[in-house]
Amino acid sequence: MNAHLGRATAVVAVSAITLTLTACGGAEDADGRPGSGKGHAIKVGLLLPENQTARYEKFDKPLIEKEVAALTRGKGEVVYANAKQDAATQNSQVDTMITNKVDVLIIDAVDAKAIAGAVKRAKDAGIPVVAYDRLAEGPIDAYTSFDNEDVGKVQGKALLDALGDKAKDGQIVMMNGSVTDPNAKLFKSGAHFVLDGKVNIGKEYDTVEWKPENANTNMAAALSALGKSKIVGVYSANDGMAGGIITALKAAGLSTLPPVTGQDAELAGVQRIVAGEQFMTVYKPYAPEAAAAAEMAVALAQGEKIDGVINQMVDSPTTKGVPSVLIPGVALTKANVKSTVVDDGVYTVDEICTDKYRAACEEIGLK
Ligand code: BGC
Repeated sequence: MNAHLGRATAVVAVSAITLTLTACGGAEDADGRPGSGKGHAIKVGLLLPENQTARYEKFDKPLIEKEVAALTRGKGEVVYANAKQDAATQNSQVDTMITNKVDVLIIDAVDAKAIAGAVKRAKDAGIPVVAYDRLAEGPIDAYTSFDNEDVGKVQGKALLDALGDKAKDGQIVMMNGSVTDPNAKLFKSGAHFVLDGKVNIGKEYDTVEWKPENANTNMAAALSALGKSKIVGVYSANDGMAGGIITALKAAGLSTLPPVTGQDAELAGVQRIVAGEQFMTVYKPYAPEAAAAAEMAVALAQGEKIDGVINQMVDSPTTKGVPSVLIPGVALTKANVKSTVVDDGVYTVDEICTDKYRAACEEIGLK
């Protein structure tokens, strides 16, 4: 799977992704669908997997809506559904969208395998499918995501750097994401690639549904099994779970918290980094990912080629050579809050440096 993923960092820099599709004028086909090369009146079905992780409602959805509007001169409509972590719900959401005759689907699957049948039903109904962020199985037409194995490597490397000599003595806990998410598998294998042989892994969990409360329970179990003084660091696959883990560490009465990793550059995660409670996150710029999805979706709905957008081909367990756009993520620590999320306009300094974090912000020169 993902035989070509490793090349992504070298191949593409975020700024190099130029999204070039321009909307064109013209009339619709008789059935109301857009004809080839006539950009407008497109109905894009957008299906996101959950709403506990902040990114989906705060970034992915509005960014995709904005891009579709821009590409269709305001005539493209996005029909949205969030599956709230339920694979069966997402399957029926796809069926509803097929019934409602969307022109194209953008799917971020709750469960990459369980969605395959719905992807096939969409294809059979003549609706192209773009897999968003997670590589859905079934006959997808295109895919966009980050270089997810590399995200795991970035997390693992940052944790080793933070541990320094402590890597030899203590143990770490690994909190991976949901087994239904192929990304979680890639984050995990990237992290293991870097960490194995360099540090003892005392306990490791695949966290059910990526839920912060499940990560909290797992961490509490690891603390009692290993002993709080023996844990020198925690690999957390994302920021939501890092929040649950840090709560468990504090509840165990640790005065100095071990380094904890994360991903998503959620506002709460960035604030914990500023305050020194979380060591790092992976900043994944969602704007280029959303732009790639929108551009491919609008082009496919119009029967146009997407060759000019893609930067590599990716294999899924069911589909070989899926035209894809993969984007690199970068480590975000106290040292580069300004040059990443602030300079990119993701958060203002005021949003990060609320009263609670003002002193910590001043200490790192964030103003
Ligand atoms: C995404 C992460 C997210 C996680 C939980 C993954 O597939 O790539 O950004 O934190 O799912 O929703």
